[in-house]
Amino acid sequence: MRILFLGDVVGRSGRTAVLESLPKLRERYRADFVVVNGENAAGGFGITEAILLELLDAGADVVTTGNHVFDQREALIFIERQERLLRPVNYPPGTPGRGVGHFKAANGADVLVINVQGRVFMADLDDPFRAIERELEACGLKSGADAVVIDFHAEATSEKEAMGHFVDGRATAVIGTHTHVPTADEQILNGGTAYISDAGMCGDFDSILGMDKEEPISRFLTKIASRRFAPSLGEATICGVGIEVDDATGLARAIAPLRLGGRLSQAEPAFWLTET
Ligand code: FE2
Repeated sequence: MRILFLGDVVGRSGRTAVLESLPKLRERYRADFVVVNGENAAGGFGITEAILLELLDAGADVVTTGNHVFDQREALIFIERQERLLRPVNYPPGTPGRGVGHFKAANGADVLVINVQGRVFMADLDDPFRAIERELEACGLKSGADAVVIDFHAEATSEKEAMGHFVDGRATAVIGTHTHVPTADEQILNGGTAYISDAGMCGDFDSILGMDKEEPISRFLTKIASRRFAPSLGEATICGVGIEVDDATGLARAIAPLRLGGRLSQAEPAFWLTET
């Protein structure tokens, strides 16, 4: 099975790139399952129902989020009826929406997707490790699902690496999101779990984390907020990873970065470009 994961979609620039490219990428790579992190899709902050539906329409099977999930207040309502939108599973009990879902891939496989948020340099949610343990106990790889994909939305690479090794051999992939900058540590861990500290963003890299540069620089210099952060509108680089799954075990055979368009060096999963 082939799983395509796209990192945080930021604002109109990221949205336009993903909406235009995803149908073609799905076909080009013959992807069976697509996860997109959409928590910055609406003006850089949160997601609206209309944007969610556009992403699903373009070929996302699941849209994950993170700390900005409820920045657009309507998300508190529509997340209840949109089962393909996930928020971190370790929010307090009673939070609207769900952090985990079971979805059918194009090849018929059952994919469990878990969205979870880190606690280092972030809000103090419930323990992400115990939350993941609970979910894997309830629906483990092969016992409950053909593949298990974890979007770990976290700031600290230490916490992300710890999560990768914590579930190594028990999940198909642990994909880091939130920092918006793609890391170069994609690898298959010893137990067979695909791992990357951060998939990077789908957004304009002539920016500060996808935002127009002026206000963030001014805040570093003056410590005063003068205006709202606004997404940078230049051409986006689509960032993500491709994961080749061993259907017999549900573990990963290979992981490779995807970087298309915009300013970053270009990369595609080579193992998907040769005819098999
Ligand atoms: Fe985030």
